[in-house]
Amino acid sequence: MPTIKSVLATMDYGPSPEANTHITEWLKLHESGFRHFIGGEFVAASDKQNFDVYNPASGAIIARVAQGTEADVDAAVKAARKAFPSWSKLPGHARARHLYAIARLIQKRERFLSVLESMDNGKPIRESRDIDIPLVARHFYYHAGWAELLESEFKGYGPLGVCGQIIPWNFPLLMLAWKIAPALAAGNTVVLKPAEFTPLTALAFAEICREAGLPAGVVNIVCGDGATGAHLVNHKAVDKIAFTGSTEVGRIIRAATAGSGKKLSLELGGKSPFIVYEDADLDAAVEGVVDAIWFNQGQVCCAGSRLLIQEGVAPRFIAKLKRRMETLRVGDPLDKSIDVGAIVASAQLQRIRELVKKGEDEGGTLLQSSCALPAQGYFFAPSLFIDVEPASTVVQEEIFGPVAVAMTFRTPEEAVLLANHTRYGLAATVWSENINLALDTAARMKAGVVWVNSTNLFDAAAGFGGYRESGFGREGGREGMYEYLSSDWLKALPAVPARGGPALSALPAASAEHAGIDRTAKLFIGGKQVRPDSGYSYSVLNTKGVSIGQAGLGNRKDIRNAVEAASKASGWGGATAHNRAQVLYYIAENLSARVAEFAGRLHAMGQTPKSAAEEVEASIRRIFYYAAQADKYDGRVHSTRSRNVTLAMNEPFGVMGILCGDGAPLLGFVSLVMPAIAMGNRVVAVPAAHHPLAATDLYQVMETSDVPDGVVNIVTGDREELAKTLADHDEVACLWYHGSAAGCAAVEKASAGNLKSTWTNQGKLFDWKNWDVGQGEEYLRHATQIKNIWIPYGE
Ligand code: NAI
Repeated sequence: MPTIKSVLATMDYGPSPEANTHITEWLKLHESGFRHFIGGEFVAASDKQNFDVYNPASGAIIARVAQGTEADVDAAVKAARKAFPSWSKLPGHARARHLYAIARLIQKRERFLSVLESMDNGKPIRESRDIDIPLVARHFYYHAGWAELLESEFKGYGPLGVCGQIIPWNFPLLMLAWKIAPALAAGNTVVLKPAEFTPLTALAFAEICREAGLPAGVVNIVCGDGATGAHLVNHKAVDKIAFTGSTEVGRIIRAATAGSGKKLSLELGGKSPFIVYEDADLDAAVEGVVDAIWFNQGQVCCAGSRLLIQEGVAPRFIAKLKRRMETLRVGDPLDKSIDVGAIVASAQLQRIRELVKKGEDEGGTLLQSSCALPAQGYFFAPSLFIDVEPASTVVQEEIFGPVAVAMTFRTPEEAVLLANHTRYGLAATVWSENINLALDTAARMKAGVVWVNSTNLFDAAAGFGGYRESGFGREGGREGMYEYLSSDWLKALPAVPARGGPALSALPAASAEHAGIDRTAKLFIGGKQVRPDSGYSYSVLNTKGVSIGQAGLGNRKDIRNAVEAASKASGWGGATAHNRAQVLYYIAENLSARVAEFAGRLHAMGQTPKSAAEEVEASIRRIFYYAAQADKYDGRVHSTRSRNVTLAMNEPFGVMGILCGDGAPLLGFVSLVMPAIAMGNRVVAVPAAHHPLAATDLYQVMETSDVPDGVVNIVTGDREELAKTLADHDEVACLWYHGSAAGCAAVEKASAGNLKSTWTNQGKLFDWKNWDVGQGEEYLRHATQIKNIWIPYGE
């Protein structure tokens, strides 16, 4: 028993264990094995196989859980499919009541769920009790609101159907909430697979669904490992896959779903920068580091794991960090005075150890808390690497443990360069008392979430998700709802008729006839008309098979040159929306001065004079539409915490590849290229292969319309070949493809490389002359990614 004197000397907390009797009783009730939750019933695995679940704080087995087979997944998908018609047809208000009832029950069971989560995952009870579970309840309340407002706020949108959802082990119940709440609010039904390390709170949630009276089959939970997840991904009757986990598995899922028509959102890994400027409140920033990398044992996809410290304050800051690290208490997650709990599993602990060893082998200096670690269970001391290089493994790889790396920088320019020097782009943190500098840095971060003078803040009202290899799609906020909705017009589109036309040939046209307009269109790269690298052109035929000219046969080298030119034109994204609008208006103005010429070209291709004139007029109007939208499709301020503005900004992707379909040669081109550049992207566009000449005629319009060099690049040639090169290219951040269903599948598969965002026509025919189909906010949404910047205010 410590004396008062000794307690006063150390000011240390004594142990304060949280009781877990209710949980052990509950686990005992299920001693024979937890079952899947399918169609409102708890059912055993079809082959009766179970797997063990461990308490990471002791290494002891605490439960046995059904291992999902292909048949189990199929049964769950069928149950979800059966429940879909009536659930999706419920008025939003009725669904809101269900979500509200779930939120209430979660709140009533907060303590139970918190203790269970800590026992299953190893996270300190302080975190599960004060962060995870309250956020879970908040998520269901928030999305009860979207269910209520769906009909008025998302007019013209409807649910997707059955959603397959696969979640990781780091925030088990919170990730479930992030997935299930928006899916149900939008009117979908779900099959969710929890992570194999941490399935228990999902099963407790299944009990809550029953108690809340949720109709059978609306939520189904199938437990199991990666193989079970793969069955869900590959199931033909699933309409959407939402995944959170490692980038490796994200890539596998991208490739597996390619061409299936399944909507996909991926929330993957990160190596997020944590920038400390020399004018920062250093003590606050030290607490920030505690929350950034030692919170949840660093097992956080958006953990601020790369500390970038301005040189002048680096020694002082590191000294403060070392002191603070020593005061962190590591131990039993159920002890209320513990800061750092257990690592989720022995395999994960092993992975952390290996990466840390590699860091030392590569010359890094490891600073580690001298705290005593419990004798049992999977624990790792809070750690910090210094003396590391930007290319070191520990600087580049996600460690997913309580290990930060620290580097220094001199200027804000250097900080931004280092921060963005990663293949990931999930989150970033900036500490500075100079709000101008902090916001300027935030704007330049290639990351989906940026916290200013704070870190790891989450709320249901703000979207969360990544750039680059951290995935695509957002969870939370209005933006997150779109991941579970489809516009009615998209669903109603017919399939592209099997057409295609003959392969492009560099040989002279077979037909002796000639329409008389003989000009060889070049490519348009970096603002210049250039010959194709191949030196070849192909004959462009009209609908009667008569040659009406030649177009360059572009190849991969031309695409690479075009991407390089587009990369260099980065100033376009920084131009004001007003400036971009002016350029678009100017394009429209110059096109209207040449209506007769363009209509003549379309007529020569085989259109009637009337239809040709209409297409040119429609193109002008479409350009006006996107000029108008350039400064109107703006972001939001989300209502998250008090004394905090959370800015949701629409940012361009950067370089986009656009492959046009075969319909409406001019209007189809304009309909895809204009929204992309209106939002600040630079594009490499491939016009319809068989009638590219209306698009190539636009070169002269571009040249006279103040379009900066490299903003629009046009490469003609074989769509599928050029699409492959664009999909493979790491500089291309987003790809739009219009073509056959097989072509869609090919680009989605190839895009798995750098996990670029893709938007394809899914083999459907877009009628560009239909105003509801051919233009709208859908295009702008696909041309932008949302960055949420959190800015606290007040002293
Ligand atoms: P993981 O990506 O393998 O597991 C995440 C989920 O995906 C689990 O439910 C798992 O069963 C499932 N899964 C695995 N393979 C699958 C497949 N082929 N098809 C469908 N589902 C599949 O992550 P793991 O192995 O648990 O952790 C490895 C590393 O991944 C960690 O060290 C960390 O770096 C990273 N990670 C990142 C997370 C994040 O939130 N971004 C979460 C978990 C892990």
